Amino acid sequence: MRTALLASVVALFASFPAQAQDFPKRPITMIVPFAAGGPTDTVARVTAENMSRLLGQSIIVENIAGAGGTTGSLRAVRADPDGHTLLLHHLGLATAVTLYRKLAFDPTTDLKPVGVVSDANMAIIARPDYAAATMAELAADIRKRGDQITFAHAGLGAASQLCGMLLMSQLQKQMTVVPFRGGGPVLQALTGKQVDLGCEQATTAAPQVQSNSVKAYAVTSASRLPSMPTVPTAAEGGVNGLEISVWHGLYVPAKTPDAIVQILSKALGEALRDPTLVKRFADIATDPTPTKATPAALAATLKSDIERWRPLINAAGQYAD
Ligand code: MLT
Repeated sequence: MRTALLASVVALFASFPAQAQDFPKRPITMIVPFAAGGPTDTVARVTAENMSRLLGQSIIVENIAGAGGTTGSLRAVRADPDGHTLLLHHLGLATAVTLYRKLAFDPTTDLKPVGVVSDANMAIIARPDYAAATMAELAADIRKRGDQITFAHAGLGAASQLCGMLLMSQLQKQMTVVPFRGGGPVLQALTGKQVDLGCEQATTAAPQVQSNSVKAYAVTSASRLPSMPTVPTAAEGGVNGLEISVWHGLYVPAKTPDAIVQILSKALGEALRDPTLVKRFADIATDPTPTKATPAALAATLKSDIERWRPLINAAGQYAD
């Protein structure tokens, strides 16, 4: 199996212009625009490990956090377009276009898509000793004393912030929002009882829920998740309009040669089909998306989410700048 895969990648290499034929010629950097320990970091490390085996070069994950993922994204935009710098980010790249009115880059022109990596739902979670017993009770508590409740997220534009924005909009009540530099620090603050609520991707929330380190009230999927079968959907809990799934995508700087993008996209697609990766993603409630591991699929996903989130963010009237 692996020999055949390697043979197909080698055959693909041979059909490329010289600049791509010796690619990659040194270790690759994969920028994760959030702190270590969060879902983006987790997806990146598993993906990088599998892609590096196929490309024959190590892929080093570099966490460059800040400003809801835009700091790390800008670093990728400005990197040498030689294929040795990648960005792994999620739907926050789509929402940044509206949230950051002075955004220093345009993700649709300053980055080149390689492919969609994964998809994961989210869960509304709380510190383990939070009093509410159900989503309905939590919603009533937020409506009653929202400003006394702290809601932690991973920065303006992070999936957790978008989830919180939708939750507060549906309940028509603001909570006290506390930003962190990634989902990892958010989960630490929740398990440490330093904040009250959060909304995190099942990728990292599911293990914490299963170990009772945090309390889960609802999932943001249309149906219950196998990783948290006893946790109802938000709709079952009486809160509609809270369906969010978080896709992750892989990008390179815009001027990266298409031949190199093709090599990266093929390696991504093969990595996402690898049985070890599929098992590891399943263990963290995350779905690999090999059929969408193409530049066209990621470009379409990014474009549709820019359009989907623009009116929601404008209606909430909360901007980063
Ligand atoms: C988010 O809220 O977007 C994520 O938790 C950030 C991360 O992947 O750390």
